[in-house]
Amino acid sequence: MKSVVLNGLTKDFSGVTVLKNINLDIQAGEFFALLGPSGCGKTTTMRCIAGFENPTTGEIKFGDDIVNDLSPNERNCGMVFQSYALFPHMNVFDNVAYSLNIQDLKKSNMFKKLSVYTRMLNSRLVKYSADIKKRVLDALEYVELTEHANKMVNELSGGQQQRVALARALVMEPKVLLMDEPLSNLDQKLRHSMRNTIRRIQQDLKITTIFVTHDQEEAMSMADRVAVMKDGVILQVGTPTDLYSNPKTPFIADFVGTSNILPGVIEKRENDLVHVTVGNQVIKSTSVHSTNDVKVIIRPENIHILDDKSERYDNYFEGKIELSTYLGSTVRYEIIVDQHRLVADTVYESGDSILKNGSTVKLGISPERVLLI
Ligand SMILES: Nc1ncnc2c1ncn2[C@@H]1O[C@H](COP(=O)(O)OP(=O)(O)O)[C@@H](O)[C@H]1O
Ligand SMILES: [Mg+2]
Repeated sequence: MKSVVLNGLTKDFSGVTVLKNINLDIQAGEFFALLGPSGCGKTTTMRCIAGFENPTTGEIKFGDDIVNDLSPNERNCGMVFQSYALFPHMNVFDNVAYSLNIQDLKKSNMFKKLSVYTRMLNSRLVKYSADIKKRVLDALEYVELTEHANKMVNELSGGQQQRVALARALVMEPKVLLMDEPLSNLDQKLRHSMRNTIRRIQQDLKITTIFVTHDQEEAMSMADRVAVMKDGVILQVGTPTDLYSNPKTPFIADFVGTSNILPGVIEKRENDLVHVTVGNQVIKSTSVHSTNDVKVIIRPENIHILDDKSERYDNYFEGKIELSTYLGSTVRYEIIVDQHRLVADTVYESGDSILKNGSTVKLGISPERVLLI
């Protein structure tokens, strides 16, 4: 278990800079997510950490050690990818034992040629030491595949194959576990249960883990901290709650969860409230901001649809429902207020009626929930 530090990392591919001064400080034992849209440089960052790519400039440290000049083997990162990258002609046990056995054999200098070993493995002539057997069985138990040890990997479901890949990474007792979109090939239900499996194992082993995803819900639900990345730049690093309640840019406000983002101009400051003009309306906020041109950020769950019994809000608007989407435990309404379209989420309890399109509604928003950036 090591901390991972990236200092001023850049990477050029034929003159195109795809990583621009990446600085990250990942704590030992932390579950850290790298979140960003496709093409922003997540995989390149991971490949630099694992040693498959040399950064153009910058320093990579595991604990106090600079690892730039170490080969991937010497860095000992466990890797799990979107494609499982298993050996289809081997059973589960052999897949998980493979690297461990190679490592052992190399040490003992028994086989000079990998091809000899591979042929023996294929003919099932390889004998594993008691230590390797134990380590493989322990890893399989972690990922709940003990009873599938003798199955060929192509007899397994996608979720089970990904768990084999995870066991194969864990069995090497890596210093750092790198996971690059590991759940993207799985269907939604499986993705959710795999999130829990990965999180449970990570917490048990306290292994420093860097998890790459373009799925904000995945990053937010799993990670201790998340770095949001765009166009080769880290925009913000924080805990999931941090990022959600204090996004530093409109891009993050929109990428991490859903936001209503409205352009506004600060009119005046009165008592503790900032008055912001948005179109023909004035919105009050407790947010602090230094310039007059602002983006007003309001999360959908903070727009309340009022009835006669509702408490009073400092921000009060009327709007017309244009679209409702029933999502099980919530209903998402799109509501037109003047020329703006706002998204509002309401909790749905069975028996509630869903407001009809075209109905006029009263909306309340607390100034504490209006963020200015
Ligand atoms: N080997 C390579 N040669 C040239 N360009 C590359 C190479 N690998 C990645 N890129 C480019 O670098 C950018 C970042 O890619 P990548 O790290 O794979 O993004 P992500 O994993 O976030 O989708 C992309 O524009 C991609 O085309
Ligand atoms: Mg990628």
